[in-house]
Amino acid sequence: MQNSPIKIGFVTVSDRASRGEYEDLGGPAMQEWMKRALTNEWQPVARVIADEQGLIESTLKELADGEQCCLILTTGGTGPAKRDVTPEATAAVCHKILDGFAEQMRAVSLEYVPTAILSRQIAGIRGESLIINLPGKPSAIGECLAAVFPAVPYCIDLIH
Ligand code: MTE
Repeated sequence: MQNSPIKIGFVTVSDRASRGEYEDLGGPAMQEWMKRALTNEWQPVARVIADEQGLIESTLKELADGEQCCLILTTGGTGPAKRDVTPEATAAVCHKILDGFAEQMRAVSLEYVPTAILSRQIAGIRGESLIINLPGKPSAIGECLAAVFPAVPYCIDLIH
């Protein structure tokens, strides 16, 4: 096992947050949730980027291949709007798609809001990194993470 703490990537995908027109609430919400969930030491690698497919893909590759994050969470860009391309970028860089994660997140989210059906969020594996898309709304982050987190450490073990 490595001696240095594991790294977790946090990618906020938002045109307005990346331009500084809007405070990034999603990135801190993801980090706070992980702080409460994990007891072992970990290091965050955070990025705030625009809804550009090429940029999302290169950021995911950088965090997976370069930074070697074992888990990468994205927030935002999963809906049906023209600029929403986070799932397409995630699918393009993943070697395997884990359909069950998306199915479970949407199923649980529908118990909170009927509009959960609008999220096209996916999850998948690139190399030794598990990538999970979360919607942009901070409340949705906790709702979705709680739905799938029980399988996350085991999944990371399996891909290492
Ligand atoms: N999932 C949960 N758990 N809670 C929510 O409030 N909002 C939905 C959906 N999923 C929501 C949710 C809405 S309104 C949208 S438009 C989609 O996520 C996509 O959001 P995004 O484009 O910010 O990723």
